[in-house]
Amino acid sequence: MILVTGAAGKTGRAVIKALLPYGEPVRALVRHTSQAEELRRVGVHQAIAGDMRNPSDLNRAYSGVRAAYHICSNMNPDEIQIGQNAIEAAKNAGLQHFVYHSVLHPQVQSMPHHWNKLQVEALLFESGLTYTIMQPAAYMQNVLGYWSKIQAEGVYAVPYSNEARFSLVDLEDVALAVARVIHESGQHDYAIYELCGTQVLSNADIARLVGTVIGRFVNAVALDQAEWEKNARSQGMSDFAVTTLLNMFEYYDQFGFIGNGNVLSWLLRRTPTRFEEFLSRSLNPTPSN
Ligand SMILES: NC(=O)c1ccc[n+]([C@@H]2O[C@H](COP(=O)([O-])OP(=O)(O)OC[C@H]3O[C@@H](n4cnc5c(N)ncnc54)[C@H](OP(=O)(O)O)[C@@H]3O)[C@@H](O)[C@H]2O)c1
Repeated sequence: MILVTGAAGKTGRAVIKALLPYGEPVRALVRHTSQAEELRRVGVHQAIAGDMRNPSDLNRAYSGVRAAYHICSNMNPDEIQIGQNAIEAAKNAGLQHFVYHSVLHPQVQSMPHHWNKLQVEALLFESGLTYTIMQPAAYMQNVLGYWSKIQAEGVYAVPYSNEARFSLVDLEDVALAVARVIHESGQHDYAIYELCGTQVLSNADIARLVGTVIGRFVNAVALDQAEWEKNARSQGMSDFAVTTLLNMFEYYDQFGFIGNGNVLSWLLRRTPTRFEEFLSRSLNPTPSN
């Protein structure tokens, strides 16, 4: 049995889709019972609702599993405590392999959601558990969050510079690599893997490639960050998330978010998906996508 936490999010769903073909039962930990029912329908063996902040819910989730993929939700101010609780639950359950969904460059202190993941990584080093740490770059799938504006206005508008550069990674590649790491037993113990695509693309490049694939000009626009903040707060985004995201935009403005695709190529035994391939697949989904 393999446990996936944060299972109803976009990462959890992608990882579950990659794990199921291996045939080993998957248990999903979700927040709400409605999500549990939905995941059972896609083939998850057991889906349980619980709160990752609650040690007894985590003990229940980790009980009787061989390996776990620990995903904490995005912009979670409790990520370190949740990581600590997950490690304790894994130790209580005698887990054989703890795999942690971290992020590329967790060393960046000015981005709290990165820095918190680094603290969880350090807890793992000292836990006595057998672990593997996955460090994905920003997902290509994030661009789909801007899709309605791209289609309606021909504008790719993000709150950082058009020149900021990224090594976007396809979440489906990340999920396939995670499934390999969990099933190639013993081969990935104590490894830390940076997972990036092979292209380094600015926002202007991203807009140009989107335009090529959809057959119309798409303009890259840097949104005003103060406007973005006003809008985010009016929509009820938490103070932690607003502050953290503003720090992230500031960092992206200065340094972008770039890594190297060699490790992911090695794990997948092929070249990682290019952004144009991802776009074509997303726009023309096959029934299994
Ligand atoms: N997006 C990227 O480009 C990227 C790149 C690298 C790493 N990451 C990391 O990937 C991770 C997952 O992101 P995501 O967007 O896939 O996940 P997500 O949608 O933010 O969260 C996953 C799930 O966790 C649930 N959840 C939240 N708090 C919970 C709690 N206390 N107990 C139980 N479940 C709880 C959420 O429930 P609800 O559905 O009720 O909200 C959601 O279904 C994040 O840590 C992020 O930093 C993201």
